[in-house]
Order: sequence, then C-alpha cells, then structure tokens
Amino acid sequence: MKNKEHEEGTALSDRSWAEPYKIKMVEHLRMTTPEQRERAIGEAGYNTFLLRSSDVYIDLLTDSGTSAMSDRQWAGMLLGDEAYAGSSNFYHLEETVREFYGYKHFIPTHQGRGAEHLLSRLCIRPGDSVPGNMYFTTTRHHQEAVGGVFVDVIIDEAHDPESEHPFKGNVDLGKMRSLIDRVGADRIPYLSLETNVNMAGGQPCSMENIRSVCALCHEHGIPVQLDATRAVENAYFIKLREPGFAGRSVASILREMCSHTDGCTISAKKDSLVNIGGFLAVNDDDLAERARNLVVVYEGLHTYGGLAGRDMEAMAIGIAESVQEDHIRARIGQVHYLGQKLMDAGVPVVRPLGGHGVFIDAARFLPHLPPEQFPAQSLTAALYVDSGVRSMERGVVSAGRDPKTCENLLPSLELIRLTIPRRVYTQAHMDVVAESVIELFKRPEHISGLRMVYEPEHLRFFQARFQPVVPASVVATGADAQSIGGRQEDEQ
Ligand code: F0G
Repeated sequence: MKNKEHEEGTALSDRSWAEPYKIKMVEHLRMTTPEQRERAIGEAGYNTFLLRSSDVYIDLLTDSGTSAMSDRQWAGMLLGDEAYAGSSNFYHLEETVREFYGYKHFIPTHQGRGAEHLLSRLCIRPGDSVPGNMYFTTTRHHQEAVGGVFVDVIIDEAHDPESEHPFKGNVDLGKMRSLIDRVGADRIPYLSLETNVNMAGGQPCSMENIRSVCALCHEHGIPVQLDATRAVENAYFIKLREPGFAGRSVASILREMCSHTDGCTISAKKDSLVNIGGFLAVNDDDLAERARNLVVVYEGLHTYGGLAGRDMEAMAIGIAESVQEDHIRARIGQVHYLGQKLMDAGVPVVRPLGGHGVFIDAARFLPHLPPEQFPAQSLTAALYVDSGVRSMERGVVSAGRDPKTCENLLPSLELIRLTIPRRVYTQAHMDVVAESVIELFKRPEHISGLRMVYEPEHLRFFQARFQPVVPASVVATGADAQSIGGRQEDEQ
C-alpha cells in the first residue's frame, strides 16, 4: 500500500512499503463478545491500562516494549553473559550505542524512566526551570520530584492538532530566549529535547531546529539532553521532509542529531525493538562518573543497570536493526496507512500523521462531551467495547494536576492514541481498527462521558478509575456485535 508522503520522498523508492520480514511464529489472539468486553471494561474502571491483555484483541495501548524481536535478537538472547559485573553483552551494547548515537559514556538502566530519574537527580536543583518541547509524563514527573519546574518551549503549532507544520516538535527559540532572560541560564540545568514528540502526536524536530536551539543553549552554557526514545523515527522524518536530507542514510541523520547535543536518555522499548531496557548516554566525564555512582543505588551495577545480559544483547542487535531503511520505512508506512484510512473517512486526527501512532482528536470526535467528562478516556472505553481494540488516553487525565495549585491541568490536546507496536500487526489488523473507529464516528452521541472515582497520587492515568456519567454509556455497534475478527472465545 502506498502512502502519499512515502511516494513523495525523492530518494526513496515509490514502491509499497511492505514489511521487510516474514512471520516465523504466531501468537493466538482471544476473541471476545461485546458483553464480555462491557464487563471487562467495567471491572477495569473504564481505564484501558487496567484491562487484562487476554481480554484485548488488537493492543494499541503503546509501542513501548511491545515490539516483535527478530530471529537474530532471539538468537542473541542465548548469548546472555549473566555475570554480575563486566558482562560481555554490556561491552557489545556500549560499543553499539557509541556507533549509532555517538555519545562518549553509556549507562544502562532498566527502562527510560530509570535514566530520567538519574539525570533529574544529578542535574536539577529545587526551583530550577527545566524547559522541554512539550512534557512527557514520566520525564516531567522526575523533574518535578526533585523540585524542578517544567516549562513548555515547544512551538505553538504543536498544540494545534490541525496545523500541518512538518516539524511540530520544534522548540520555539523565542520562548527559550525569554526563559533564559527571565530566570537566568544558571537556573536552567538543561534543555530536555524530545525527538518525535510523543504527546504532540509523534511529531519530529527538524535538524535545523536541533542545530539552532543547541547553539542558543550552548551560547549560555546550558546543556541539551535529548530524549532520544524515538530519535530514529525522527531521523526518518528529517529524511522525508527536510531539504537536503533525502539522500542521506537514517543512521547518519541520527548521528548528526545526537552530535549537536550533550547526552540523551532513551527508553529502548520503542525504537530499539526490545521488550525492556533503556540508558543514559552523556559526553560529560564528570556527569558520567556521578551517574555511574548513582545507578548502583537505584538500578544495579553500572555494567548492567537493572538488565539481564541477554536483554543487553537483544538491545544491541535491535539498535542496529532499528536504523535499517526498509525497516523504518515499513514501520512509518504502516502507521500512515491507518492514519490515511481514518483521514479519508473524515475522522479528526492529529496532522501531519506522526511516527508511532495515530492520534484522534477526541474533543472534535465527541463534541457533546465537556472536558470534565474526559472525552478521550470515554472514547478509549467505547472503542474497546466496540471491537476489543485497546488505545490510550492522552489528554486531561494524562496531564494530571498543577503541582502548586492542585487544579487539573487542561491541555489543549485531548487525544486518544492508537499506538502501533513494531513488526507485530498486519495491514488487515489496521483495517479492523479503522472500521471500528469509523463506525463509532458515525454515531458519537451514543458515547457518554466518564467521571473519575479514584485518583492515584502519581501519574494518575495509569491507575485511575472511572464510572460512566450515564450508566451503560458505551454501546457496541451493530456490525460487529457478534464477533470481532472471527472466532468467539467459547469456540476456541
Ligand atoms: N520518554 C518518552 C518520549 C516516552 O515515550 C517514554 C515512555 C519514556 C520517556 C519513558 O520510558 O516507559 O521505558 O520508562 N513512553 C511509553 C508510552 C510509556 O507508552 O508512550 P519507559
């Protein structure tokens, strides 16, 4: 299947993006009835995070840790050197990170937030301002937990789901300059620069923006720490959309992006094609020394950081696979296939289509629901009941509360995320997802709002519980009321 953007890439083939792999092993999915799903979502407090995965048909909750590993990665798992210290897999991974990301020092962590925790603790003092191109939940949480104040410096277009800006992840240099003027460079420990900004819809930063914002920060002695969790996807968008990059390899674009910055945190559960893992990588010798010291307290020795040797081996192999041109083209191609189908049906999605999923504008999808009835949360529940597709809320529930006033933060984006795991689902799965969304879109008034009945203290979206404002609000559509995708559970 061709997608518009992929046809336009000058140096890219105009042929279909079909998967550059074939399927060697399958995992059976359990089919459920609408009644079973009504019960399951009720028991889960209308929070898709609290569903059992065995009750889910197509799981688009996240692209995090949900990738299918290759045969080579699985073979690598058998090469796990499970020594407590100095595992050979650590050295392989260190070498790989240096080769593809280019930073001098590498400290493994159990996942991305482990690296964010270390970086925040090591660099932020209470009262410091920590600018970022939009917040990410765990990143901001660790910054605030050590007394930092997050400041959003992303361009305004990022907050507008309809803006077609090709690089909505860009930092607004004016906002960054005025923050420096307001608080002083010495109260800014670093700029947290996210690639393919998750909460904005998987939107990339341009190389030009990375270069100029790094130059501005460095002029004032402010380091730039990349959240390189989805930097490979960002590199691919630079190749597609930024003049001068069409002929370059994704690997070389990635190296160049990193070369402007001082270090990075990474959740390897995304781009790097593994089910667990992350790391901190920095150029500064002193910061690296302190991080190696602190990692022992929270993660494990600096040569394993909470990971088994086999996990590090799979990650090293996954990183090398992640930058392969045919892989990344097919990965983004599949996301855009689903997005294009929804756009063709008039479903309001964040545009341009991003990297790791399709983000539906729940505020426009459900205009009859006020923000206090959590439109995006309500839509995730309705979609699950309709088809067994699990999605995630990225709106007012995820945004949480202002740490000072305790008021709900009301983000301009009220979205649900259909996040596509890498190398897991087929085009037919994408068709099923699109059909279900489009069906709901035809009769949105059948979806009623939710009220929160339990709110946890930290990162509330993970464990909050809800009840329908109108009981039995979410009703399955007629077309699939019997069975989604085939067999019923009791036929298996
Ligand atoms: N940074 C970004 C941009 C992320 O998307 C995530 C995780 C993290 C950091 C934290 O990494 O989960 O390995 O601790 N995002 C997942 C998601 C949870 O579903 O988007 P982690």
